Amino acid sequence: MFLIDADFRSDTVTRPSAQMLAAMQAAPVGDDVLGDDPTVKALEANAAERFGMEAGLFCPSGTMTNQIAINVHCRPGDEVICSSLAHIYNYEGGGVAFNSGVQVRTGGDAYGRIFPEDIHRLVQPDMDVHAAPSRLVVVENTANKGGGTSLGLPLLHELHAAAKSHGLAYHLDGARIFNAIVREGDRTEDYSFFDSISICLSKGLAAPIGSVLLGNKDFIGQAKRIRKRFGGGMRQAGYLAAAGLYALENNIKRLVEDHEKAAQIDQWLSQVDYVVERKPCETNMVLFRINAIGGAQALHTHLASLGIRIIAMDREWLRIVTHQDITSAHMHALKNGLQSFQT
Ligand SMILES: Cc1ncc(COP(=O)(O)O)c(C=O)c1O
Repeated sequence: MFLIDADFRSDTVTRPSAQMLAAMQAAPVGDDVLGDDPTVKALEANAAERFGMEAGLFCPSGTMTNQIAINVHCRPGDEVICSSLAHIYNYEGGGVAFNSGVQVRTGGDAYGRIFPEDIHRLVQPDMDVHAAPSRLVVVENTANKGGGTSLGLPLLHELHAAAKSHGLAYHLDGARIFNAIVREGDRTEDYSFFDSISICLSKGLAAPIGSVLLGNKDFIGQAKRIRKRFGGGMRQAGYLAAAGLYALENNIKRLVEDHEKAAQIDQWLSQVDYVVERKPCETNMVLFRINAIGGAQALHTHLASLGIRIIAMDREWLRIVTHQDITSAHMHALKNGLQSFQT
């Protein structure tokens, strides 16, 4: 029997399109560690200009851009304030401690948002020698473990004001910032009030690799040294940067299609009785909880037997993500798979 291969685990699973591969192959390159890869420079300048920031730094991953930002903003013993669901706290291998000797203080809601009150409550007084000094606020937009939540510019501005009222730096983990921008109808330059921004090219934008860290010239100058220290200096990286440039120029608007597909899946899930809770579906992710303890694995196994891959986040919660490579046949198979599951 022909088994479909429908991969809904993440938007990171996409393969570069023929046009993207052609752009990569045609890229002029140099040695970027020596500072002479023209395509890397073009990508860094393009991303920085879009977001109204002075400079950019091309890195292999969003983990690295976040970890570099934390390393530049903080000193060992400092504290970072973020959501309890934040990627930097849950999914970066303890990098904040390992790479920067920093600890994390968390707050916020079940959707990956934090609020100005959280900052005012969590900030540690600089004068108190018992406390680890707060140095940095990190927000994630969209919030992955929150369900692809879009925080919205008004809240991000309020958080900025709260961070600055305590003299804290303000970093955006924008792994999926373009999903938020497309949903809200924002402009990229609306985000220029951050001290630093990490954007990912290898999520919904469908490049095979790459993230760009954005900030002012001094910040990016320091970040460049840390990138080298972390082993992230790349040589003929222009081939990879070309994929990122192609993604920025061609793959932002189409994110709307991913959001529509996610909304469709969310609707199907609202109609099956084994789903007892769904996080609000705002962008390209659907996070849902199923009634039976251990049921997440059972649904995961049922779908896998039909050639459909999703992620079981724990014993009850599952995640479905839409992206460029999801076809209508994949959607059809998923609908049938969800409807044929029996607890
Ligand atoms: C919100 C968020 N930040 C950062 C990252 C890290 O990106 P990478 O996998 O490129 O290290 C991810 C990865 O999925 C993410 O979801």
